[in-house]
Amino acid sequence: MTMSETSRSHPDYNYKVVRQFAVMTVIWGIVGMAVGVLIASQLIWPEMNFNTPWLTYSRLRPLHTNAVIFAFGGCALFATSYYVVQRTSQVRLFSDKLAAFTFWGWQAVILSAAITLPLGITSSKEYAELEWPIDILITLVWVAYLINFFGTMIIRKVSHIYVANWFFGAFILTVAVLHIANSMAIPVSFFKSYSLYAGAVDAMVQWWYGHNAVGFFLTAGFLGMMYYFVPKQAGRPVYSYRLSVIHFWALISLYIWAGPHHLHYTALPDWTQSLGMVMSVILFVPSWGGMINGIMTLSGAWHKLRTDPVLRFLIVSLSFYGMSTFEGPMMAIKTVNALSHYTDWTVGHVHSGALGWVAMVSIGSIYHLIPILFGQARMYSTKLVNVHFWLATIGVVLYIVAMWISGVMQGLMWRAVNTDGTLTYSFVESLQASYPFYFVRFIGGVFVVTGMLIMAYNCYRTIRAPKGSLAAEVQPA
Ligand code: HEM
Ligand code: HEM
Repeated sequence: MTMSETSRSHPDYNYKVVRQFAVMTVIWGIVGMAVGVLIASQLIWPEMNFNTPWLTYSRLRPLHTNAVIFAFGGCALFATSYYVVQRTSQVRLFSDKLAAFTFWGWQAVILSAAITLPLGITSSKEYAELEWPIDILITLVWVAYLINFFGTMIIRKVSHIYVANWFFGAFILTVAVLHIANSMAIPVSFFKSYSLYAGAVDAMVQWWYGHNAVGFFLTAGFLGMMYYFVPKQAGRPVYSYRLSVIHFWALISLYIWAGPHHLHYTALPDWTQSLGMVMSVILFVPSWGGMINGIMTLSGAWHKLRTDPVLRFLIVSLSFYGMSTFEGPMMAIKTVNALSHYTDWTVGHVHSGALGWVAMVSIGSIYHLIPILFGQARMYSTKLVNVHFWLATIGVVLYIVAMWISGVMQGLMWRAVNTDGTLTYSFVESLQASYPFYFVRFIGGVFVVTGMLIMAYNCYRTIRAPKGSLAAEVQPA
């Protein structure tokens, strides 16, 4: 028996809410990524908006980002954090009622987003587009989540707080602060509000929020996942517990300063841009410390990668984490940003982080969880998990390589000048040159979504199989 099997289902834990969030992760993953594929196709074939205002690129793009980050990523974070905090605290969730409220409340937030964004109702702040009534609902759900998570830690039966909970805790607490500060607005009607901040201050607050949404929503929480699911799936202890503690404190104290790298060469005071740049470059160190800690957890168990596609998802996600946290600090250097900003290079960076790291670590963790939550020893088909792994990996690579090439190409074309000082290329020429890469990105997206559909089928078969009927496969020692 593997480590994860001996410690399977415990009657006292609240698995219901974990099950609900785990299943919704898969469903929202498909929806959010399918919208990604649709907008990717619109960039090649504009008529894919079917001449309908609700389906235009400008409205569906925020729908995509909200669906993948907050619906797919959010459900994955709720599922795993509720699971991990119970298992590592050896106690049932602090409150079942609050847990149910967070589940239904979060689904209501997602549905409201799915209705209002296509209607064009938006605050127009990136990653914080939802209007004030939805913002209030988010605040209520988040505070309930915070009370439930920390309440569970307070009533824990073991004195130690496992490092995954430190990361989940920091993510929950910081996102609460970010959301409340950035969403401060004056409502003028039920569907319209104006930010409390003005001009450069508004931009600064927005990107303090935006970057820390990356640092805490898209990174810290998923590192919590890594610290629990990588050791569990590998059947090995974390490579260095001491490093994990350093990793934690260094990461959370540095991330918070890096926001201005989104506003290079803008009206923001120059010194804040330089500070953001320096902090971003230093951020490389703890990021790689964490990645190395995760990957080295496999020491002595590398051979498991050959037979276990779930572990492969987790480890490859860490490689993408390493890649994006090398690239990010580099893009934060002002002279590099002068080339990369406004180009597809940024979009490539986003998806190496969001699709390569966030989505793949979530998918790996959900594959680990589904059999445990539904009383099975394994997924219905390990082969299909493997097929999904390859579709996802090839899809992500196609996506990000295409964007890197088109991004650098665009940056170079925009700055090319003739000897008489005129621009060598018009903007439209750079757009035309980007089309082949948009097509490759579209194909990459189709691969990724196909993988997600296979995952949904595999989960469905696992959930519907008679309890205990899927026996563990014999793993080589
Ligand atoms: C099938 C998979 C996906 C496809 C095809 C896809 C496609 C796209 C496209 C076409 C854009 C607009 C790019 C532009 O405006 O030039 C975009 C933006 C974005 N996507 Fe995705 N996406 C996928 C998955 C994901 C996932 C899983 C996440 C997050 C967990 C994500 C997060 C984002 C973000 C944050 C942006 C905004 C980027 C920026 O403003 O620079 N995407 N995506
Ligand atoms: C050390 C870590 C990182 C640093 C220093 C960093 C730095 C940067 C920089 C400089 C930009 C471009 C800003 C611009 O020119 O507009 C950027 C954009 C972005 N990064 Fe990162 N990055 C890091 C890691 C990550 C990770 C791991 C993810 C995702 C999980 C991510 C998600 C994003 C997103 C979504 C944007 C686009 C924001 C927007 O304009 O809408 N980053 N990052």
